[in-house]
Amino acid sequence: MAYETILVETHGKVGLIRLNRPQALNALNRQIITELNAALDAFEADTGIGCIILTGSEKAFAAGADIKEMQDFTYPQTYLDDFIASWERLSRTRKPVIAAVAGFALGGGCELAMMCDFILAADTAKFGQPEIKLGVMPGAGGTQRLTRFVGKSKAMEMCLTGRFMDAAEAERAGLVSRVIPAADLVDEALKVAAVIADMSRPVAMMTKESVNRSYETTLTEGIRFERRVFHSMFALADQKEGMSAFVEKRKPNFGG
Ligand code: HXC
Repeated sequence: MAYETILVETHGKVGLIRLNRPQALNALNRQIITELNAALDAFEADTGIGCIILTGSEKAFAAGADIKEMQDFTYPQTYLDDFIASWERLSRTRKPVIAAVAGFALGGGCELAMMCDFILAADTAKFGQPEIKLGVMPGAGGTQRLTRFVGKSKAMEMCLTGRFMDAAEAERAGLVSRVIPAADLVDEALKVAAVIADMSRPVAMMTKESVNRSYETTLTEGIRFERRVFHSMFALADQKEGMSAFVEKRKPNFGG
C-alpha cells in the first residue's frame, strides 16, 4: 500500500511508523488512521518484526483529531459510523508498540500515545486533553487511560481545563517512562525497540498481554492469569535457551 500521510521504515527487527501530515501538525483524520491501521496490520503479519515504534515530527506527535474534519459531524453520523472505533486497532496490537513523542501530543494525539505500551518523551513534548475548549470531551480513551496513568486529580484538572503538561511533569506523573533530549529521541527509541525485538517474541507478547491485564481485572485474577502464562513459558524452546545461555555464560539466541 502506498501511504500519503505516514512514513514507514524497517530497521532490522523494528518497524517504525511516522505520522506525516506536517501541514496540520499530524492532525488525525480518517486517512491517517486508515493508513496507520494498515501499517500496523503489515508489521503484525511480518514475522521479521518484533517491536513497533509510533512517532511524529519534531513539532508534533499529533495535535489531536482533525478539527476541520469533525466540525460538521452530526450525532447520527458519529453514532452510525461508530466514530473513533477504528482508532482501537492500535490498542489491540499484539506486538509491543513504543510511542516516541516530541512536540504536541494533544487530544486524540495524547490518546494515541497512551494506546501504545509505553511513551518515550522528548524534552519538547507537551501532553494535553484540550477537547473541553472545543466544546467536547476526550473520546478515544483520554478520560480513562490518563486517569489510570496519572491519577484522578491531575487527569481531572487536565481534562477540565485543557492545560498542557510538559515532559518533566509527564515523567513525574508517570505518563512517560523517560525523557530524552529531542535530537536523540528516535535513535533512543530504535535502541530500546531493538532490545525488545531481540527478546523471545512469544515471551515479549505474553508479557505485554499480562501487564495490560492488570488494567482489566482484579489483583487476584491478574496474578492467576500471570501464573498460568508464566507456567506456559516452560513449554518454549526460548526458556531453555535463555536459561542455558545464562548458565553457559553466553548471549541467548531466541528463536521465538
Ligand atoms: C486540524 C489542526 C489541528 C487539529 C493544528 N491544526 N491542530 N488542524 N485539527 N487538531 C492545523 C492548524 O489549523 C494550522 O493549519 C496548522 O495545523 C498549524 O497549526 P497552528 O495552530 O498554526 O500552530 P501553532 O500556532 O504552533 O499552535 C499549535 C497548537 C494548535 C497549540 C497545537 O495548533 C492547537 O491548539 N491545535 C488544536 C489542538 C486541539 O485542540 N486538539 C484536540 C482536538 S479534538 P492552517 O491551515 O490554519 O495553517 C480531539 C478529539 C479527540 O482530539 C476525541 C476523539 C479522538
